[in-house]
Amino acid sequence: MAVLSEGGGQAGTGRVASCLRVERLESLDPGMLQELAACGRQAMGDAALGVWQLPVIAAWGFLFMARLEGEIAGSAQAIRCREPGDIYMDIFYIREGYRGRGLGAAFLKQVMEGLAAGGFRRLLVTCDPGNVPAVRLFSAAGFRTDGELDAFYGPGRDRLLLAAPLAEGGS
Ligand SMILES: CC(C)(COP(=O)(O)OP(=O)(O)OC[C@H]1O[C@@H](n2cnc3c(N)ncnc32)[C@H](O)[C@@H]1OP(=O)(O)O)[C@@H](O)C(=O)NCCC(=O)NCCS
Repeated sequence: MAVLSEGGGQAGTGRVASCLRVERLESLDPGMLQELAACGRQAMGDAALGVWQLPVIAAWGFLFMARLEGEIAGSAQAIRCREPGDIYMDIFYIREGYRGRGLGAAFLKQVMEGLAAGGFRRLLVTCDPGNVPAVRLFSAAGFRTDGELDAFYGPGRDRLLLAAPLAEGGS
């Protein structure tokens, strides 16, 4: 496990985003696997990765977890692309009770810094064009539309392909 940030602040007092502890997990013990799968299901429904996928992402992709005061607040899950330097983030969420407080922006910034430090130069993500919080989150973080994927997840499920440059040490 690699810790990206310790989350030194105090959640009750200042900016809650400074209290996030972000880790990259390279393996999942059985308890963590179940917990993370349940958090994903709650946050993303059918789109979430489950117990058959999460260990694969942890071992050979990139699995980040954000904690607030010890509790799982969110997760990001990414895989390498065929194009060298590109990485695709399949899953990014903040759990429902933790949303709207700047945690998504803080977590995404740390994920992007972690991936940049890992040598990646561009982060790709797909997003439902009607998902206003996600579109705002990603555009504020420097993502721009790179394509439109009609019926990407089946009829009626169009997605925007978004891409952001990754700069080591932040941009
Ligand atoms: C998208 C998501 C990660 C945002 O997390 P969050 O912690 O609420 O985000 P923040 O508080 O940092 O806010 C990020 C931006 O979204 C906006 N936002 C947050 N909640 C919003 C809402 N309910 N309606 C409109 N905008 C909203 C914020 O104003 C902010 O935009 P700004 O920088 O222009 O002000 C969260 O809503 C989520 O997990 N959704 C379900 C999973 C998902 O859609 N993931 C993304 C696609 S993979």
